[in-house]
Amino acid sequence: MSLLRLAGVNTYYGEIHILQNLTLDVGEGELVSLLGGNASGKSTTLKTILGLVRPRTGAVEFAGEDVTQRATSYRIARGIAIVPENRRLFAPMTVLENLEMGAYLNRDGKGRKEDFERVYTLFPFLHERRHQLAGTLSGGEQQMVAMGRALMSHPKLLLMDEPSMGLAPILVERSFEIIQQVHQAGVAMLVVEQNANMALSIADRGYVLATGRLVLEGPAKQLLEDEGLRKAYLGR
Ligand SMILES: Nc1ncnc2c1ncn2[C@@H]1O[C@H](COP(=O)(O)OP(=O)(O)OP(=O)(O)O)[C@@H](O)[C@H]1O
Ligand SMILES: [Mg+2]
Repeated sequence: MSLLRLAGVNTYYGEIHILQNLTLDVGEGELVSLLGGNASGKSTTLKTILGLVRPRTGAVEFAGEDVTQRATSYRIARGIAIVPENRRLFAPMTVLENLEMGAYLNRDGKGRKEDFERVYTLFPFLHERRHQLAGTLSGGEQQMVAMGRALMSHPKLLLMDEPSMGLAPILVERSFEIIQQVHQAGVAMLVVEQNANMALSIADRGYVLATGRLVLEGPAKQLLEDEGLRKAYLGR
């Protein structure tokens, strides 16, 4: 059974039809990449999963439950978290305070302490720099804070919107290593990327969107070999 399933989703902004009959799955613990060019509907897909926009028709199912009509807060409480486009950290706050913002759903102090320990074990850097202002960290370091913050809510599924954006090549590699690390810790991920090569190199499966429609899907290895995709996105 899938952890996440979009079934025949049609999402509009006003009268503009963006996502067109989109069906996709993410299994428990699976790493799936969602590829596509600018304005193809990648971020809209993540917004639809989180309930920031509602599909006009079709369903969003998470952990065996139809959440299409549920509020974003409900979906987050059920185990969905996001690292948004451009990371959106609270720049004038410390690393520690940023992590706390990700834990706001956690009521009891004990659970929260365990969440800090789990995130600090995964990213010792965040513990070392916990008192540094987030806005003074490098891009790659901010990426780690954004992932740590998302993981504070102990999600089953982590959505990531273009983690490589704005990072120097060496940091892109580091960023994908971190994604693999989180994946190996058992968190399912849906990673939106324009960097198709890099995204597919770590993914189990991939989907390719073009103007709101799926044009290709399959195991990551198979997509990496796909002639059409290579021409369109992989630049070789
Ligand atoms: N709030 C909105 N109101 C109207 N149109 C929107 C809104 N948000 C996005 N769109 C439009 O929907 C289309 C898909 O946008 P989306 O942000 O999902 O693309 P994307 O694949 O994430 O692109 P990028 O790679 O540039 O981030 C675009 O044409 C965009 O202009
Ligand atoms: Mg986007």
